[in-house]
Amino acid sequence: MSRHTGNALVATFLLLLWSGLATALTSTLQQVTNFGTNPTNVGMYVYRPTTVSSSPALIVAIHYCTGTAQAYFSGSPYAQLADQYGFIVIYPSSPNSGTCWDVSSKKSLTHNGGGDSTGIASMVAYAKTQWGVDSNKVYVTGSSSGGMMTNVLSATYPDVFKAGIVYSGVAAGCFVSAAGGVDAWNSTCSGGQSTASAAQWASVARDMYPGYTGSYPRMQEYHGTADSTLNYNNLNEEVKQWAGVFGYNTSAPTQVQQNTPLSGYTKSIYGPNLQGISASGVGHTVPIQGAEDLKWFGIVGGTTTAPSGPTTTTAPGTTTAPVSTTSSASGATQSQWGQCGGTGWNGPTACAAGATCVAVSPPYYYQCQ
Ligand SMILES: *[C@@H]1O[C@H](CO)[C@@H](O)[C@H](O)[C@H]1NC(C)=O
Ligand SMILES: *[C@@H]1O[C@H](CO)[C@@H](O)[C@H](O)[C@H]1NC(C)=O
Repeated sequence: MSRHTGNALVATFLLLLWSGLATALTSTLQQVTNFGTNPTNVGMYVYRPTTVSSSPALIVAIHYCTGTAQAYFSGSPYAQLADQYGFIVIYPSSPNSGTCWDVSSKKSLTHNGGGDSTGIASMVAYAKTQWGVDSNKVYVTGSSSGGMMTNVLSATYPDVFKAGIVYSGVAAGCFVSAAGGVDAWNSTCSGGQSTASAAQWASVARDMYPGYTGSYPRMQEYHGTADSTLNYNNLNEEVKQWAGVFGYNTSAPTQVQQNTPLSGYTKSIYGPNLQGISASGVGHTVPIQGAEDLKWFGIVGGTTTAPSGPTTTTAPGTTTAPVSTTSSASGATQSQWGQCGGTGWNGPTACAAGATCVAVSPPYYYQCQ
């Protein structure tokens, strides 16, 4: 697939991201220039509500491919929530043609490497000195290409971000361009065929900031099972990457919550720093869960571990195989939309009643449908 075909596919993401009841905002989106080191000329836009908390939190909200800062500002719930809770939102704007983020070049995949990631890190530094943002309350999120960048920033600047939320992304380094291309499409990764062990993915992430020994942001990864732009298997790879970083076992989630945070979504909790959320039957556009996001970040609720909420425990008699993990339970059946085979897969290969194991992306990925 050519890069442009790929970009055109990602363009289908351009849909309403949320359907919150829009009320008038207290402030407006402002462009900021000369905010610091910005080698690739990433645009910086900020939303500062009329009333900002002292030592406020900061959310960096990153647009999808073909998107803009303005589009993500109006298409996501963060500005409304900023009015309510007094935090600041930065919306970076991609400088690349087609306006996907550069998540393929060595520059962007390296701490202070001089790519798009460096420009975004500079925006955070500016927000700290200029607006008194609390270093311990800096968060990042994004959709699609912005979700990829969220994983990349979490790996390249783990010292800057305390938590991340990825909507429909891929593991950091999955979109790498072997030829060194900037903002290149990688069809192996988009097709869900870039698979590696947790240890291998963790090395890919750690190598983006060599010598760093500090903590990494706690991560939440959302992905729709019916995503035809970035194959659903990418959820497995992202989860493996961060499980590898945190030393969690992807085959043994500490908790699997059905119908959380929405009906048809399954949240697998691997430890206090990692959750994978599989959205059954949802395509590439996974709607942003603003209120849930604030809980994960710790802006609301004060918890930094398993956020409370409508935690539905498994109904008796239903299949509990976590759909986003490599469960090795022998004799188990996989639930609808879960993986049921593929290279490296050790989990159940039989599907629950009513579902059939389908070769979605052979030989790498088979899914119960
Ligand atoms: C695509 O990414 C994979 C890693 O996910 C990498 O091994 C491969 O070389 C990349 N393909 C190209 C054409 O650069
Ligand atoms: C991971 O969990 C699985 C399933 O409980 C278990 O069989 C396996 O031994 C665990 N691996 C490690 C390294 O603890």
